[in-house]
Amino acid sequence: MEDAKPKLAPATSLQDIISHAKEYGFVFPSSEIYDGLQAVYDYGQNGVELKNNLKSVWWKAMTQLHDNVVGIDASIFMHPLTWKASGHVDSFNDPMIDNKDSKKRYRADQLLELKAEEYAANGQPEKGHELLLEMARLLGENDLDGVRELIISEGIVDPISKTANWTEVRQFNLMFSTQVGSVAEDSSLIYLRPETAQGIFVNFLNVQKTGRMKIPFGIAQIGKAFRNEIVARQFTFRMREFEQMEMQFFVRPGTEMEWYEKWKEARLNFHKAVGLPAEKLKFHVHEKLAHYANAAVDIEYQFPFGFREMEGIHSRTDFDLKSHQELSRKKQQYFDNDLDENGKPFGNYIPYVVETSVGADRLFLAVFCNAFTEEVVGEGETQKTRTYLKLHPALAPVKAAIFPLVRKDGLPEKAQQILKLLRSDFRVIYEERDAIGKRYTRQDLIGTPFCIAVDYQTLEDDTVTIRHRDTTEQIRMPISELKQHIGQAVSMERILEQL
Ligand code: GAP
Repeated sequence: MEDAKPKLAPATSLQDIISHAKEYGFVFPSSEIYDGLQAVYDYGQNGVELKNNLKSVWWKAMTQLHDNVVGIDASIFMHPLTWKASGHVDSFNDPMIDNKDSKKRYRADQLLELKAEEYAANGQPEKGHELLLEMARLLGENDLDGVRELIISEGIVDPISKTANWTEVRQFNLMFSTQVGSVAEDSSLIYLRPETAQGIFVNFLNVQKTGRMKIPFGIAQIGKAFRNEIVARQFTFRMREFEQMEMQFFVRPGTEMEWYEKWKEARLNFHKAVGLPAEKLKFHVHEKLAHYANAAVDIEYQFPFGFREMEGIHSRTDFDLKSHQELSRKKQQYFDNDLDENGKPFGNYIPYVVETSVGADRLFLAVFCNAFTEEVVGEGETQKTRTYLKLHPALAPVKAAIFPLVRKDGLPEKAQQILKLLRSDFRVIYEERDAIGKRYTRQDLIGTPFCIAVDYQTLEDDTVTIRHRDTTEQIRMPISELKQHIGQAVSMERILEQL
C-alpha cells in the first residue's frame, strides 16, 4: 500500500538554513556590500516580523500571564561602576589561545569541551566528564598555564594546521568599550552592556516602590547586548550584537531553589508552546558556575550543529544587589512585613534573584530551523521536494496572501477589497504576478499559513478558496467568515493558552 504521509527529505544543514534565510528576506549578513562584518547580521522584511512576534509572545507570557511581573526598558549605556559591581570588568573573560601555524584564535574552554564531546561520542562519557571537571577547576583557579598543559596533554590539535603549536592561554574581556563626552579630555570609558540584566538590578527599588511590588515579583526586559566574542561562528547563534529577553525574579532568601525549579518548568513549556518539539529540547546543568550563580541550567535546543544553549536559568543569589549596594552606597533592601513561623515580620533583607535569560536571536534560529520543512511529494516522474516553513501561524510574518486568479474582469479589484477588509487586523499581502501555483510556493517558502484565491465564482456569490499551508487543502468560504477563520488560528492566544 502507498504511504499516505509525505516523506521527509534528508536532514537540513546549517548552510540550507542560512541560504533560505537570506533568499527569502529573513536574515542578511550586515553591510554585505562591503563583504559583511563577522558575527553581525540584519533581519530582513520577513525576519523582523518573525522576531517581533517572538518578542511579543515572550513579553505577553512574562508580563500579561503573571500578575507579579512587570517590564522595563533600560538604556544600553550605564554608569561604568555598574560593570565593576556586576563583576564584568574583572571576570567577564574568555580564555583564548592561538595556534602559531594557522594563526587562528580559539576559545581554550571550547577546545576542551569539544574533546569531552568526542570522548562521549566514542563511548567514554566518564572520561569526558572528568576532563570538564578538571577544566572547571583550572579556570576557577585562573591557572591558565594549567589549561594550556591540559590542551597539550589531551593531544588537541588545531583543526586547520593539525599541529599542537599553541601560544599561552590569555584572558580576553568580552565587553566593548567606547568614550562618552564631547571633548577628548573630558571623556571617560563606558561599556556597551554585555547583558540587559544590570538595567533591571539598578532599577529594582524604582520599580518596587513606584509599583508597590511585593516579593516575590519579577522585572522583564528585552534589549540589545554586545559581546566581543572570540570565536563567532554558526550564523546568528553567536553574534557580537544580539538581543536578550531577560527576567529577574526577586524572592525571599531561602526560597530561591523553589522558584528556580518553577521557572525552569515554565520556560521549557514556553519553548514547547512556540512549536519546538520536546525531543529537541533538554536541560543541561552547569558544572562551571558563573561568578554570580549558586545554581544554573541551560535549556538546549538541537540545532543542525547539535544541542546548544538557547536559554540560561540562573539562581543569582543576592550577588548583584549586594555589590550594587556596596559600590553605590545606596541600600538595596526590601522590607518584608509577612510573618515568619514565630509570628515576626521577615523585616529588611536584600532579595535573592532567579533569572531567566533567552537570546531572541537564538530563539529565532531555533524556531526557524524547526520550521524549515522539506517533504518529498508525488511519485515517479512527478516526484519533487516541497519546501515550506511550518511556523506556528501566530508567529508567521505574513498571515494571509490574497490572489486574484487572473489580472482582469474585476478580480483584482475584488481581491483588493478583501485586502482592505483584513489588513487592519492581520499582516496580509496582495499578489497578482505569475501563475497561481508559483504564488502558493512563494508563500509556503516564507511560512504564510493562508492563501486566499479570488475567482469568477467570487464575483457571483462572495466566496473564495482558502488554502492551508501545511495540508495544501483548499476549502470554499464566504468572505464574511475570513476574519474569524484566520483570526482564530493566528491569535497569540493559541500559544499563551498552553502556558
Ligand atoms: N544575564 C545572564 C546572561 O547574560 P548568558 O548565558 O551569558 O547569561 C543568556 O546569556 C542568553 O543570551 C544565552 O542563553 C543566549 O541565548 C544569549 N546569548 C548570549 N551570548 C550570545 C551571543 N553572542 N549571540 C547570541 N545570543 C547570545
